[in-house]
Amino acid sequence: MQQRADIYAVIHKGLRAFMGQTLTRVGRVDWEDAEDRGTTLAQVQELLACCAAHLEHEDGFIHPAMEERRPGSSAQTSGDHRDHLRHIEELGRMAARVGESANGARQQAGDELYRALAGFVAENFEHMEIEERYNNSVLWSAYTDAEIMGIEQRLVASVKPEMMQLLLPWMLPYASPAQRAEMLGGMRQGMPGEAFQGVMNMLRDLLLPREWNKLATTMSLA
Ligand SMILES: [Fe+2]
Repeated sequence: MQQRADIYAVIHKGLRAFMGQTLTRVGRVDWEDAEDRGTTLAQVQELLACCAAHLEHEDGFIHPAMEERRPGSSAQTSGDHRDHLRHIEELGRMAARVGESANGARQQAGDELYRALAGFVAENFEHMEIEERYNNSVLWSAYTDAEIMGIEQRLVASVKPEMMQLLLPWMLPYASPAQRAEMLGGMRQGMPGEAFQGVMNMLRDLLLPREWNKLATTMSLA
């Protein structure tokens, strides 16, 4: 069967990586170590900001496209998004509480954050599976690949630069080599050379040497 355009694949891999790594980091952090605490809480807030922006992107572009040609088809994942927004706000408050707790009282607030974040991650993993299975089947039956790529381009163009900077270090390393090269090929066409070089420099630090070597070969041949 021919592979169809998948609007979710790379961003969802990135979000799964970001969520999984942040959850495990919250599990092992020493909350009484000010530096460790500060950087971990900052990562939690960045993750929450990315999750909230991701909901907006899907609500703004993917669900309206589904509704336009298959009315009612986005109901389940739209409803999930409303729940996720409430969770995101609650997690933000819990993270702030860890930061404000007195010495010696942080571990308990941290344990509560860890378990609430685990629940949120679990819910999101199931939700993303519904999007990739059910929402994709709706998109594939209602739109051509060229139309789906058009929706994706409009979505990506709407992403604020500072949000893109947060997302790329999670999307690019955790995509497959082929997805990574395809994404970078598009970015090379659409970005100033200096900005593209900045992305490649960032990526070089995040990839394993053999991943980097493969990418360098693919990109120089492209
Ligand atoms: Fe979603």
